[in-house]
Amino acid sequence: MPIRRSKVQVLVKWIFENQHKLQTVRYCSSSLRYKELEDSAAQPQPEHVAPPATAPSHKPRPHITPEISFKFDDLQVRLAAPYQLQPKPEAKELGFGKYFTDHMLKIYYHKELGGWQKPEIMPFENLNIHPAAKALHYAIQLFEGLKAYRGVDDKIRLFRPDLNMERMNLAAQRSGLPMFDGEELIKCFTRLVQIDQEWVPHSETSTLYIRPTLIGIEPTFGIMAPESALLFVILSPVSTYYKASTDGAVSIFADPNVVRAFPGGVGNRKVGSNYGPTIEATARAAKLGHHQVLWLFGPDHELTEVGAMNIFMVYINDQGEKQLSTPPLNGLILPGVTRRSIIELASEWDDLTVKEEVITMQRVIQLNKEGRLLEMFGAGTAVIISPISRVGFLEQDISIPTMKQAQPVFQRVKDTLLAIQYGHMEHPYAKVIS
Ligand SMILES: Cc1ncc(COP(=O)(O)O)c(C=O)c1O
Repeated sequence: MPIRRSKVQVLVKWIFENQHKLQTVRYCSSSLRYKELEDSAAQPQPEHVAPPATAPSHKPRPHITPEISFKFDDLQVRLAAPYQLQPKPEAKELGFGKYFTDHMLKIYYHKELGGWQKPEIMPFENLNIHPAAKALHYAIQLFEGLKAYRGVDDKIRLFRPDLNMERMNLAAQRSGLPMFDGEELIKCFTRLVQIDQEWVPHSETSTLYIRPTLIGIEPTFGIMAPESALLFVILSPVSTYYKASTDGAVSIFADPNVVRAFPGGVGNRKVGSNYGPTIEATARAAKLGHHQVLWLFGPDHELTEVGAMNIFMVYINDQGEKQLSTPPLNGLILPGVTRRSIIELASEWDDLTVKEEVITMQRVIQLNKEGRLLEMFGAGTAVIISPISRVGFLEQDISIPTMKQAQPVFQRVKDTLLAIQYGHMEHPYAKVIS
């Protein structure tokens, strides 16, 4: 027995020293220490287990698919020491994404080590990135945004996180970033939220924002799929996303000279390169007294999105019915989780027709003139629902009667979403995690 054990130890040492050459199978994670490896290998091995192959450099590299994912079961947790814990700010000071919790989740991907490494929760820290990392030059990255809500019953809920994971993988695919099993990531960041659960505000006007991000970190200048990536998740307690008028509504500016997205582009993917180029137009709108930009597309000035929200309109249709409309997912529009939920929920309401349809500025102006336009609002995770009371477009200042409705649809939609998110009603969209 002692002789056999020492042979195993020699083999394990060889694997540890040569793991960079093992391309088809990852025998040991980069985060696994030699001691751990040796200890586990020293356990009695079943007779029939074949020894690992020698460096299989001639074998084809694995094709990384979502099935070859990191696993929640491999999660390692390193908790912050008491002196590393941050004080929690007052709810009124929160703003949006100004404060971060005590821990974060990191998962590295290294193609030459067989792909995804072990997920790790650790004390919140700065990233150490090579200046040539592809994310920094070519925006080979993506991000997501969802929230953890503390309900009336003190339970913490997520809202349809599977849809964020689906969207994240689609963005990864488009940018040559590695895909993964969304359920495994949900389990990993659920654990992160559980660890930092005291950061989930005890309030129905604040939440804990969850920001999964995937960046290409391979330090080479070639514009190609990165062979190394980092998926990290950070958490931020948040309240209001932006300021509105005193009545809670926003004014938006539609500038036909700027576009957010175009056919065949990535308007339907949550990649950072969609957001940086909106800053100048948003600042111009602000100078003119508006809160957000209404993004138009094409010669007919089709409405696409408003700020970082999906847009909705309520009007009396040609059949005399009250209709809730939003532009279709034609590649120019982010498939919002809130958008989809509103469509699904409102489709169940008998007094409302729900439709995905192209909406042009001319149609908005015409319906408004005829007194048939009732409401416009934006919808998204950060703001939930943002009613719109004014649209600036080509020298025109169009008043939208959203805030004048006796029983506005936007309020009903908002109340329903909040009731689900904060546990006032049981609903399959809400996933209790703590
Ligand atoms: C451009 C854009 N549109 C719409 C949305 C709303 O999407 P969701 O409801 O998934 O937050 C967002 C926010 O993620 C966004 O950035």
